[in-house]
Amino acid sequence: HSADAQRTDLMTITRFVLNEQSKHPESRGDFTILLNHIVLGCKFVCSSVNKAGLAKLIGLAGETNIQGEEQKKLDVLSNEVFIKALVSSGRTCILVSEEDEDAIIVEPSKRGKYCVVFDPLDGSSNIDCGVSIGTIFGIYTLADVHEPTIKDVLRPGKKMVAAGYCMYGSSCTLVLSTGAGVNGFTLDPSLGEFILTHPGIKIPNKGKIYSVNEGNAKHWDGPTAAYVERCKFPEDGSSPKSLRYIGSMVADVHRTLLYGGIFLYPGDKKNPNGKLRVLYEVFPMSFLVEQAGGQSFTGKERALDLIPTKLHERSPVFLGSYDDVEEIKALYAAEA
Ligand code: AHG
Ligand code: MN
Ligand code: MN
Ligand code: MN
Repeated sequence: HSADAQRTDLMTITRFVLNEQSKHPESRGDFTILLNHIVLGCKFVCSSVNKAGLAKLIGLAGETNIQGEEQKKLDVLSNEVFIKALVSSGRTCILVSEEDEDAIIVEPSKRGKYCVVFDPLDGSSNIDCGVSIGTIFGIYTLADVHEPTIKDVLRPGKKMVAAGYCMYGSSCTLVLSTGAGVNGFTLDPSLGEFILTHPGIKIPNKGKIYSVNEGNAKHWDGPTAAYVERCKFPEDGSSPKSLRYIGSMVADVHRTLLYGGIFLYPGDKKNPNGKLRVLYEVFPMSFLVEQAGGQSFTGKERALDLIPTKLHERSPVFLGSYDDVEEIKALYAAEA
């Protein structure tokens, strides 16, 4: 429609999800209410992240503020904000956070059918230098009403009904999939609304970028070392790939989704399971990458097929453009 109509026809994330929901007549808006509470958490963290530098500047961070309250670290603050937002939605029954050793079982009076696993602040090593950080979440649903246990979240990622992340960078961007493709929304601070800016994100089939912490090269196994070598010295005469590594998974995955290429956090001799956590980093990002037409591999299997046995279990992950991941899969298959 006309540009003018476009300007006034604001597709907010709430409207977008309501439209999606209308395709599921049986749904009663529970997911929309849950998502609205996640969005509230993201808006709060976005504003805190933007002020964090200032807080540090005027000496609030790490000291007591005027009310004599101890200034919380951003990832502790973000964790509390998301737990409170999720519980108050009245639509969750069990929560798993990177920052809590044990699962949080929601009190019966506030329970709903959703199980949310989340990384409240991803890339925390990048907070103080102002590099993009984010929040990652994945959502399972209970098949029937029962006393929730961790068995309800120790399930393969392919059982997730939705996954997303919010990246706090030059703009605040929320990327979400409810199982029917991937859509990106950018926060308009003047409206306080996330507006649809990246409809139907599709990852290019092949990319020109590889993203890995080369500092771990000494400990890589054969297939990973061979793959990275091929990125730098291609044998088929093609040009070498560029290396881009931000060190916040949210930022590295966001760039991979939009530009294509491959993101790797391999296992190595020191850490055979790599570093990234299955439930709230590997699964949600693998869900999104697959929904955008890419794929995600653990070195042994499709990442979303993995069945976790512990809440904070880690796994190697190779995700991104379909053809790029195919190459490293072939190298692991040859080694198996
Ligand atoms: P978190 O800050 O939530 O603990 O996650 C940090 C993770 C992830 O964001 C990133 O991809 C990875 O750590 C970077 O690890 P290295 O510094 O070892 O490369
Ligand atoms: Mn993380
Ligand atoms: Mn984190
Ligand atoms: Mn951490």
